Amino acid sequence: MTMKNKGQTAAQLLDPDPSADIGLKSIVLVGLMGAGKSSIGRRLATALNLPFKDADAEIEAASNLSVAEFFELHGEIAFRDGERKVIARLLDGPRHVLATGGGAFMDPKTQALIEEKACSIWLRANLDVTYKRCMKRNTRPLLKTGNPREILKRLMDERFPTYEKADFTIDSGEGPHEIVVDKIIKALTSGSAQT
Ligand code: S3P
Repeated sequence: MTMKNKGQTAAQLLDPDPSADIGLKSIVLVGLMGAGKSSIGRRLATALNLPFKDADAEIEAASNLSVAEFFELHGEIAFRDGERKVIARLLDGPRHVLATGGGAFMDPKTQALIEEKACSIWLRANLDVTYKRCMKRNTRPLLKTGNPREILKRLMDERFPTYEKADFTIDSGEGPHEIVVDKIIKALTSGSAQT
């Protein structure tokens, strides 16, 4: 965990609060599809004057395939490998705000990478909000294998205990994304892990 302490002051090193080195690390948004990671991430990056990156978009650019095509051609295991490599490359670069795909933090190696090199934020949304947002576009391969609402419910049960390990948990409701951005900035500056 040496990277975690890189560039910190003595006071920050003594402070276990994850926000202590908030000014140095990239900010990684994790959470289920439809939680608003990309749209909120983009706005958060603008508010913090940081570049914005989207892991899914980076995988699409690197492979010249859509996420759905990648799943179809290469399968989920290859997608997770590619996702890990892309996230590792981005987190080795300059500080930015990164929206990850919903399964990224579920991969133990990707999760360890994020824990080591970034400040993680779980955008938590309930089933109704998640379902409504996901139904706006029909591009997510995992939702095409059955009843989307049931799949989302199952993924919530499976994934929420892992997402909970993120440094911060922020509720992402139906209101304007700016409200969530404000909550994130307040949490980052106050160090309060739950809002
Ligand atoms: C996935 C979520 C998607 C994308 C892929 C797999 C998942 O990203 O990475 O379809 O496992 O939950 P979004 O969360 O941005 O939709």
